[in-house]
Amino acid sequence: MAVYVVTGGGGFIGSHIVEELLRRNQTVRVIDNFSTGKRENVEPFEGTAEIIEADIAEGQNLPRFLKGADYVIHQAAIPSVPKSILDPVKSHHANVNGTLQVLNASREANVKRVVYASSSSVYGDSPTLPKHEGMMPNPLSPYGAQKLFAEIYCQVFSRAYGLETVSLRYFNVFGPRQDSTSQYSGVLALFIPAVLQSKRPTIYGDGLQSRDFTYVQNVVEANLVACTVPGVAGQVFNVACGDRITVNSMLQQINKITGKDIAPIYADPRPGDIKHSQADITRAKEHLGYQPKISFEEGLRNTIEWYRRNL
Ligand SMILES: NC(=O)c1ccc[n+]([C@@H]2O[C@H](COP(=O)([O-])OP(=O)(O)OC[C@H]3O[C@@H](n4cnc5c(N)ncnc54)[C@H](O)[C@@H]3O)[C@@H](O)[C@H]2O)c1
Repeated sequence: MAVYVVTGGGGFIGSHIVEELLRRNQTVRVIDNFSTGKRENVEPFEGTAEIIEADIAEGQNLPRFLKGADYVIHQAAIPSVPKSILDPVKSHHANVNGTLQVLNASREANVKRVVYASSSSVYGDSPTLPKHEGMMPNPLSPYGAQKLFAEIYCQVFSRAYGLETVSLRYFNVFGPRQDSTSQYSGVLALFIPAVLQSKRPTIYGDGLQSRDFTYVQNVVEANLVACTVPGVAGQVFNVACGDRITVNSMLQQINKITGKDIAPIYADPRPGDIKHSQADITRAKEHLGYQPKISFEEGLRNTIEWYRRNL
């Protein structure tokens, strides 16, 4: 049995990682300041996981929280392009300074490996598709830049201190528990509740923009293998399905599964949004043994079912 610390474990992806680790009988500690995450996400784990309410960017207590940890799965961040455009200094503090504090404390605590939640936003809007890890990053938003800086810190901590780190570039993750209450929520978390309530969702742009939507359980699997697979320290991997679906066709599929026929409202594109996104996942398959086991459609059905029960 190993000890895992999940930063941001009160969030959408983090809480799924915690759930799976507990299912596998591992020891879990969550560090979260519950800024975007929710207490109710971790309530079912109280008593089995240790829940620490703390801000990772205020690093003074982190070495104590990480004591005895084997692996740190670092999810905590302000995970939003629009929020980073509105307040780049605040999101830099959480996303870059916070990651630096986590890495430094992990080094002090002799953690075996840190797995970092990076993002497809580091690629920006280069026309080459699919995006592969050998491409030059070209972020369009402060959020993308912050995710890239934090990746570089992860690589540097591997080189300079021998702390093993792995960065996973997630592509548009969706699934149960994704926050649907903010205008900044992920597109599926906004569209599914809207359609279920017969409200018209807003599409920014013409809806022909496309994304590599990735069901959260695939991301959980990638994190868990990235903790223990040997020989990948300091590396970066795409985590996605390797497919591409337009926002228009995603809405059609939601309509089909829910038996509705809701038309969108089209609005101007948002600054910092990229047109197309699709991952080449060859490297993750070859080096991590990662396979996206749950398809977009199966993930969509599970997610719709969850919102139906929880709205
Ligand atoms: N959801 C996606 O599609 C996606 C895509 C690419 C990358 N990511 C990355 O995955 C990670 C998890 O994202 P998510 O979608 O689950 O978002 P989320 O907002 O649900 O989770 C982030 C968690 O971090 C916590 N947090 C934020 N700042 C903190 C701080 N300073 N100290 C302690 N905790 C803090 C929040 O309270 C929240 O629980 C983030 O790093 C995000 O950048 C997400």
